[in-house]
Amino acid sequence: MPMTWRPEMTPPSKRLEGRAALVTGAGSGIGRAICMRLAEEGARIACLDRDAAAARATADAIGGGALAIAADVANATDMQRAVEATAAAFDRLDIAVNAAGVGASARLVDTTLETWRHVLDVCLTGVFVSLQAQARQMIAQGGPAVIVNIASTNARQPGEGLAAYCAAKAGVEMLGRVAALELAAQGIRVASVGPGLTDTPMVARLLADPVAREAFLDNIPLQRPARPEDIAAAIAYLASDDAAYVTGQTLYVDGGASMQRYPSLAARKPSAPAA
Ligand SMILES: NC(=O)c1ccc[n+]([C@@H]2O[C@H](COP(=O)([O-])OP(=O)(O)OC[C@H]3O[C@@H](n4cnc5c(N)ncnc54)[C@H](O)[C@@H]3O)[C@@H](O)[C@H]2O)c1
Repeated sequence: MPMTWRPEMTPPSKRLEGRAALVTGAGSGIGRAICMRLAEEGARIACLDRDAAAARATADAIGGGALAIAADVANATDMQRAVEATAAAFDRLDIAVNAAGVGASARLVDTTLETWRHVLDVCLTGVFVSLQAQARQMIAQGGPAVIVNIASTNARQPGEGLAAYCAAKAGVEMLGRVAALELAAQGIRVASVGPGLTDTPMVARLLADPVAREAFLDNIPLQRPARPEDIAAAIAYLASDDAAYVTGQTLYVDGGASMQRYPSLAARKPSAPAA
C-alpha cells in the first residue's frame, strides 16, 4: 500500500476564525465531516439537514453555539428561512457549502419519472434554491463570501445506470460556473468539489459488496475510497483565503479515479447505489 496522508495529521489551522458557515447535508457523511473541519478551523457552523435529529447530532458534536436547522434543500421557503436563521445567529453568512444529495441507480430505460425528478430535485434544484438564497444574503451584507457545491466525478464521467445522478451533477458544475461569473463583481466566489467514491452511508451497500468494491478499487490509482475528511479538507481550502483567486473551478478529490474508465454496471451489480 502507498503511504496515506491523513488530513487529521496536519495541525489544525485557524484559517476560518470567526466566519459564519451554513452547510447542507450536515447530518451524515461528507456534510458532517465538512461541518467538523470548518469548525476546527474556527468557523461558526449552521448544520442543515432534512433529518432534524441528524442535524442536531452534528451541531451537538461541534458544540459552542453551532446551530441545527431542519430543512429540505429543494424547498425555497425552507432555504430562505435557513439563511435568515444563520444570518440572525451569526450576523452574516461568509461560507455556504451545498452537500445535500441523494443517489439512485437504474438503467436509463428503467428509470421512472419519479426517480428522475427526485434526484434532480434534491441534487440540482436543491443547489439552485440554496445558492440563490445564500447569494442574496451575501450580496445584501457585502464583502467577500464563498459558496462551494458538492458535485461528483460523475459530473464529467458517465456511469451506466446513473443517468439522473450524472445529469444532476453536471448541472451542478455548470450552475456553479454561471454563478461564479455573475457573482464575481460582488466579491462572491463559487466553486465545486467533485468527490470520487467516498466511504459514507450513501455508498455503504456498494462498499460492503466485495465484487462492487473490487471493481471500484481497481479504478482508483490511490487504491482506496476517499474518507469524508479528504473531501472536507478540499472544502476548507476553497472556503479559505488561500483560495482567494479561485472561482468557477471544480476540484476533483478522487484518488485519480476520473483518469480511468468508470466501472461498468455489470461489475458494480445493478443494485449498487450511486457514488
Ligand atoms: N459518497 C460518495 O461516494 C459520493 C461521491 C461523489 C459525490 N457525493 C456527493 O456528496 C454529497 C454528500 O453525500 P454523502 O456521501 O455524504 O451522502 P449521505 O447519504 O451520507 O449524506 C447525505 C445527507 O444529505 C441529507 N439530505 C438528503 N436529501 C436532503 C434534502 N432534500 N434536504 C436536506 N438534506 C438532505 C441526508 O439526510 C443526509 O444527511 C452528495 O451531494 C453526494 O451526491 C458522494
